[in-house]
Amino acid sequence: MTAKELILKSCELPAVPMVAMRILRLVEDPNTDISDLQDAIMADQAFAARVLKMANSAYYGLRRNIDTVSDAILVMGFATIKNLSLAVSTREVYKNFGLLEQKMWEHSIGVSVAAGIIAREVNFLKPEEAVVAGLLHDVGKAVMNNSQPERFLMLTQRVYEERVTYSQIEEEIFGFGHAEVGGLFAEKWGFPPFLCDVIRSHHSCDLDDTILTGDPSKITLCYIIALADALCVRLGVGYRGPMEDIELQDDKLKALLGITDERFSELKETFKREYIQEKLLYQM
Ligand SMILES: [Fe+2]
Ligand SMILES: [Fe+2]
Repeated sequence: MTAKELILKSCELPAVPMVAMRILRLVEDPNTDISDLQDAIMADQAFAARVLKMANSAYYGLRRNIDTVSDAILVMGFATIKNLSLAVSTREVYKNFGLLEQKMWEHSIGVSVAAGIIAREVNFLKPEEAVVAGLLHDVGKAVMNNSQPERFLMLTQRVYEERVTYSQIEEEIFGFGHAEVGGLFAEKWGFPPFLCDVIRSHHSCDLDDTILTGDPSKITLCYIIALADALCVRLGVGYRGPMEDIELQDDKLKALLGITDERFSELKETFKREYIQEKLLYQM
């Protein structure tokens, strides 16, 4: 059995919510105008509220408050709204609102915030891609948790007890990894190719990852996500506590991105301030 077959056999990949599906179709259609897209978003009030909250998050770089959906579309553009819709829709995937799911969601927000900070630091051309990729990078964990909660809890307990990363032991427990599951999820949901690849490679990009070959900006984005992830794991964002002693590739990733230790300490302080603010904004 291939890894993909095994995943499809043991995990249920949730369907794309109707509202997201409509928005994706509209964004792809060259004849769509702002009012079509606005109607689709407004059709689901809870969804519209979340889109507005995210549009107002610091990472979309907007100085003024966006309080209507049409302004959000106008200022952010179709492509960003599409990514945003996908990100907002995945909130539903973290549906069992227990402590573990809450932590996973916090981790997603943390990595999203950190990725935005690092992306700006290295002058990455599309920091908003880093923000969305950060939010979605571990969606595979949520899928695994929803499909096999007991096994996932066992995995999490071992992560804490043995001070290892999920990717170091999940293969042993599940037979596959959350990056692969996330990649399949991303494909099924019709995520843009850059997101599918980054989700799939966020734990292997510092190695010779064949999925990423040939596209320097995608490789950089992957380094950004991996470093943002390491920062959050070390600080314990979305974990029970700081994981200072865990084996991660942060030094290598810093070097690959050209960030000195000294500068990274400053970025970490920026992160702590901004994470608290963003977390309140994303409470939804
Ligand atoms: Fe991960
Ligand atoms: Fe992560």
